[in-house]
Amino acid sequence: MPPLFCYNEVVMDKTARILDSGEQLRFIGLARELLDKKIKEIGRQLTFHVTTFGCQMNARDSEKLIGILKDVGYVWEESEDADLVIYNTCTVRDNANQKVYGKLGYLHGFKKKNPLMKIGMCGCMMQEPSVVEKIQKSYPFVDMIFGTHNIYQLGELIYLMLGGEDEGHGVTVTKRGQVISVWDEASGIMEDLPTERKYPFKSGVNIMYGCDNFCSYCIVPYVRGRERSRDPKEIIREIERLCADGVSEIMLLGQNVNSYGHGADFDMSFPELLREVCRVEGIERVRFMTSHPKDLSDELISVMADEPKVCRHLHLPLQSGSSRLLAEMNRHYDKDKYLDLVDRIKDAIPDIALTTDIIVGYPTETEEDFLETMDVVSKVRYSAAFTFIYSQRTGTPAAKLPMVPEAVVHDRFDRLLKLVQDIGAEENGKLVGSKQVVLVEQLNEKEPGLVTGRLSNNLTVHLPGDASMIGQYVPVTITESGGFYLKGE
Ligand code: SAH
Ligand code: SF4
Ligand code: F3S
Repeated sequence: MPPLFCYNEVVMDKTARILDSGEQLRFIGLARELLDKKIKEIGRQLTFHVTTFGCQMNARDSEKLIGILKDVGYVWEESEDADLVIYNTCTVRDNANQKVYGKLGYLHGFKKKNPLMKIGMCGCMMQEPSVVEKIQKSYPFVDMIFGTHNIYQLGELIYLMLGGEDEGHGVTVTKRGQVISVWDEASGIMEDLPTERKYPFKSGVNIMYGCDNFCSYCIVPYVRGRERSRDPKEIIREIERLCADGVSEIMLLGQNVNSYGHGADFDMSFPELLREVCRVEGIERVRFMTSHPKDLSDELISVMADEPKVCRHLHLPLQSGSSRLLAEMNRHYDKDKYLDLVDRIKDAIPDIALTTDIIVGYPTETEEDFLETMDVVSKVRYSAAFTFIYSQRTGTPAAKLPMVPEAVVHDRFDRLLKLVQDIGAEENGKLVGSKQVVLVEQLNEKEPGLVTGRLSNNLTVHLPGDASMIGQYVPVTITESGGFYLKGE
C-alpha cells in the first residue's frame, strides 16, 4: 500500500532527502557554534524541555532529541518555561491531538514573556498534512515542525532555526521563518547520533521501525512508514554499550516485534535475536513491545520459557473478542486462534502475566460482538488491560464505516473496565505472600520512605527503602495488593 499522506510543499527531490549521520553530526557542530554565540551575547545558558505524548516509540525518540539538544549545548529545564520547548506528539486517537492543541495556548503564554523562546512540534501528528496546515494557520508562533522520519535531522533544523544558511537538505524555511521538514517516508536507519537515557539502569532499544499491518482503524502505518528492521549487529552493539554503561534491563521496541527480520537482507528472526540479547554481558532482564498475535511463533514461546532473563510478561493486544470484527479489523486471527495461543503460552510459561489492548465501539460493533470481548477477558484473565474507545482516524479504512452511538459505547466501556479491573485485582492478589525480585526504579512519588519498582512480570511494587536502592534488584515479599500495584517488604 502506498503512503497515504504526502506533504508536497515540504518534500523536495529524493536525493536531497538522504540523512547521513556524518553530515548530521556536522550540523550539530554548526548549530553549537550559533548557540554559543547567542549564549555569549545574552550572558546566560539557554534551556530546553521536551514533552512526550504517546507510546514507547515516542519516548525513545524523545531520548534521541534530548541527546542531540544537549550536544548542541542546550541545558535541560524541568518546566515548559524554557528557551526551547519541543512537543513530541501522538495521533493514535483524537483525544491525543486535542491535548496537544490545548497545551499549545499555554506554551504561547510563556513565549509572550520570553522573546528568546522557540517552540518545536514533532512526532506522529506532524505526518498529517492537515495538522501541519492547521499549525501554520492557527499557531503561527510555532517555530519548527518536523516529522517522525526527521528526528535525526534535529541538529540541522536547529541550525536553520538559529539563522544558519540553508544548504538544501529538503527543509522549508517559510517567509515567517518557520522551519519545516516532514518526509512521507524514511531514508534509512541512522546509527551513531547522540542519545540520552531517562534511567541509568534501563533503556529501550529500537529493533524495528514502522508498521505494515494496516489494521483498519489504525493510523500508525501512515505516520510511521513501512516496516524496517535494524541490523542485529547494530542492536547488539548498542546493547553492549548500554550494559557497559550500567544498564541491566532492556526493552526491545517495535510496533510488531514478531515480524522482525521479514524482508531484511540479514537472516535473523525475533526469537533468535532475543536469545542473542540474553547473552550480552551485564543483562539481567529483557522485555519487548509489542507482539502481534498473528505472528507469535512457537519458537518465541520456547525462548521465553527457557531464558530466565526474558521477563514473565507478554503484551498481547486483543482489540476485540469478536471473530467477525477481528476480520473487519484486518487482524489475521480469530477468537479461537487467540485463545488457543494464550493456552499454549500459559502451558509453557505458567507464571506469565498477560496484558492487552482492547478497542470498544469499533464501527458496527453489536452487543453480541462486545460480549465476545468480555468472554475473552474472562477466559484469559489479564493482569492489566488498556481499554480504548474507538476513535475515527481520517484516511484509515474504518473511518468510512458508521459509528456506534456514543451512549452505547460508553456503557460498554464502563462494563469492560469494571471486568478488567476486577480480574486484574484478583490475578495480582494471588501474588500476596510470594517472594519476588523487584528492580527499584525511583523514590515513591507520594509516600516518603518508600521506593517503587517493577517485578519481572511488569507489576509495580512499593516497598520501604531509600535512594541507594535505585537500580538494584531487591528480594521482596509481597504483603498487599492494591489492584494494579502491590506492596512489599
Ligand atoms: N503496534 C501495536 C499498537 C500500537 S497503537 C499493536 O498492534 O499492538 C496502541 C493501541 O492503540 C492499539 O493496540 C489499539 O488498541 C489502540 N488504537 C489504535 N488505533 C486506535 C483507534 N483508532 N481508536 C482507538 N484505539 C486505537
Ligand atoms: Fe496499528 Fe495494527 Fe500496526 Fe499495531 S499492528 S501499529 S494496531 S496497524
Ligand atoms: Fe502515538 Fe505515534 Fe506511538 S501515533 S501510539 S506516538 S507510534
